[in-house]
Amino acid sequence: MSNTGVGKVIAEARRRVRPTKQQEAAVRKVTESTLERVSTEAQGHPEILSVELGGSVAKDTWLATPSMDIDIYLKFDKWTDRIKFEKTAKDVGLTALWNCSPRLRFSEHPYVEATCGGVQINVVPYYDVALGEWMSSADRTGFHTKYMKKKLTESMRDDVRLLKAILIANGLYGAEIAKNGFSGYVSETLISQLGSFEETVRRFAEMNPGTIIGNTTKEFGTTISIIDPIDENRNLAAAISDENLVKFVLVCRSFLKSPTPDAFDADAVVGRSSKRYWENVLGVQFAFEQRAPDIIWGQTKKAAAALAGQLKLGGFEVIRSKAHINETECMAYLFFFLNAVEIPATYVQDGPEFFRGENLDVYIKKNLKESEMTWISPQGTVASLKRRKYTGADAYAKSLLRKGILPEGVRGLPKVWIGVGKMNKSARDAAREVITTDAAILRSG
Ligand code: UTP
Ligand code: MN
Repeated sequence: MSNTGVGKVIAEARRRVRPTKQQEAAVRKVTESTLERVSTEAQGHPEILSVELGGSVAKDTWLATPSMDIDIYLKFDKWTDRIKFEKTAKDVGLTALWNCSPRLRFSEHPYVEATCGGVQINVVPYYDVALGEWMSSADRTGFHTKYMKKKLTESMRDDVRLLKAILIANGLYGAEIAKNGFSGYVSETLISQLGSFEETVRRFAEMNPGTIIGNTTKEFGTTISIIDPIDENRNLAAAISDENLVKFVLVCRSFLKSPTPDAFDADAVVGRSSKRYWENVLGVQFAFEQRAPDIIWGQTKKAAAALAGQLKLGGFEVIRSKAHINETECMAYLFFFLNAVEIPATYVQDGPEFFRGENLDVYIKKNLKESEMTWISPQGTVASLKRRKYTGADAYAKSLLRKGILPEGVRGLPKVWIGVGKMNKSARDAAREVITTDAAILRSG
């Protein structure tokens, strides 16, 4: 049953997310010329069986945003050995796109990325295998394209764009480890399985843990499961963090409660941050060596967790934390919202119970030396007053960093500061997130 408000807003938004004739013509032009150049270059390599258009352009589910890309796939004979597979793909991509400043990128295997006519192009190799006999991570893609082309009607394709738009507006789009969000293929899967944007929003608004979308005989252990329609062994929801899942549930609830075109507009979706708390933000910045983004992200998130753990041990209460990466500048940032950046010089350590503790003499002797004061508490335990080496979060963080808590590929000394500091806009926006009430929460409240 469609609430008229919801239906009207959706119908209006659907018209707005459809690419215009000009946008379509521009993308078609770049697609055709790139396909031709890549095909010509592939001709000298018999192990490449064909050059195919994939991703959202092939399925007509793309959105005219700066994040869109044209995915071109090189289908390799499955008997090609892995080294040749990677090298040939790299050579073909780099040579064919030589005048679009091609760059080599890595996910599970290398691929080539370039920017032609303002649009990002990916040239990605995969193996021509039977369904389920996957040899590389991109092998499912041809099956995905075929499935979605057949399954998605015109209005469903518009609904995929709508779903992508609301996800982008709320910062929930993208399957990379950086985002842990909803991918383009997840958007297509949801619309193809649930039928429409409205139904998807309704289902998510009332989502319960344990929900399985699609058919499978496997158990995945994630909060919800979204089964890849061409592979019942693959749970697409595994890439989505619980944080983003919950945010999307709230976004869906608030959309149903008060439907508005603003829900699809990133500029209209803003959280409320508190200037007052800037002084409680500890920032860490370090340069890293160029690596695959997934590796950098994995390491940076690990470093953030390790540093947060150490800060807690040092007496600093970490309320929220966040990692941020600037890939072009090879710069990583960690932000910690602390309950206090300056803490008292002393703290009480409660020791063992006098009558039940072992080696109390040794403990007392050691404590007398290392503590400011030692006494027997009313509960009969040996308590002591200890002095901290560091009372400032920045000095303490610096000391931790000198001990080598950061990943291997870090270049130079990390910078540490408290407050806004001297950051560029993207870093400042990331830092602000740790002192911001989520937009999804604001709207649902
Ligand atoms: P993209 O991330 O480019 O997705 O992956 P997309 O559907 O083209 O979305 P946009 O419009 O560019 O944002 C391209 C293909 O890689 C496979 C899918 O087959 C997808 O069509 N893929 C991607 C996956 O199988 N799983 C993923 O998590 C991401
Ligand atoms: Mn794409």
